[in-house]
Amino acid sequence: MMVRPVFEKHEMEQLLHMVHHVYGYDFSEYSKASLNRRIQKFMHDKGLMDSKSLIQLLAGDRLSFQFFLETVTVNVTEMFRDPSFYKCLRQQVIPILATYPQINIWHAGCATGEEVYSLCILLHEAGLLHRCRIYATDISPANLEIAKSGVLPLHHMREYTANYHESGGVLDFSDYYTAHYDKVLINKQIRERVVFLQHNLVTDHSFNEFQLILCRNVMIYFNKQLQNKVLKLFYESLSPLGFLALGMKESLLFSEIKSKMSAFESAVKIYRKKNK
Ligand SMILES: C[S@@+](CC[C@H](N)C(=O)[O-])C[C@H]1O[C@@H](n2cnc3c(N)ncnc32)[C@H](O)[C@@H]1O
Repeated sequence: MMVRPVFEKHEMEQLLHMVHHVYGYDFSEYSKASLNRRIQKFMHDKGLMDSKSLIQLLAGDRLSFQFFLETVTVNVTEMFRDPSFYKCLRQQVIPILATYPQINIWHAGCATGEEVYSLCILLHEAGLLHRCRIYATDISPANLEIAKSGVLPLHHMREYTANYHESGGVLDFSDYYTAHYDKVLINKQIRERVVFLQHNLVTDHSFNEFQLILCRNVMIYFNKQLQNKVLKLFYESLSPLGFLALGMKESLLFSEIKSKMSAFESAVKIYRKKNK
């Protein structure tokens, strides 16, 4: 059995410095506990025993770095994840969005697209999708390529169908995709209002004003300081009375934007920007 290497603080600093310097990605404000676990997983998968060999490999090999990026950023996702959240979007948020002539939505940290296509299905069922411009962003180019393709593994569909119905969906979920061998392709009609863009929440700025921003299960990997900075970016990017949706384990109550936001439905972490 392979012995897991122990990562010292200075080794972590050396590694993060190299990654920032060579590839431009700044992970210094990611939570160290989670970073450590992910880095150890990468080292285990690659059979690396110490930080020196890890740094050497990554500094000289862009392909290995891409794989490292995918491991470190965690891209676990699913369609209609947390059905009660989608139920709230469907029943309470979307009827308010329907009052706007045009609806701008930012899905930050969209991973491989499952969440954004879930939202598109809700908007389609509400007859609003054609009025929406949906920007789905992620730090990882590999995730964005998969997301753009609209291709998902068939074996998840049973679970996603159950999630869809639990979130209040009453139609035949299989009408939203075409199955081919072990994959499915989400219908073009559901995908066509989404623009996928690479965007790093650590370093990049806002690019529009939005009525709804979703960033779920992304900031959980950041330290509090970085969470606060990203929450301020979202606040600045929201239109007055715009909605912000966070993951079930995330919150803005510790942050500088707390007093400028109201809890719209705190059980599912949906907040609303106060009117000035
Ligand atoms: C656990 S997934 C969450 C996916 C989806 N939002 C969900 O809840 O199912 C976290 C995603 O955040 C992305 N991510 C991590 N750091 C990021 C950053 N600095 N900027 C933008 N996206 C980031 C990862 O690439 C990954 O796709």
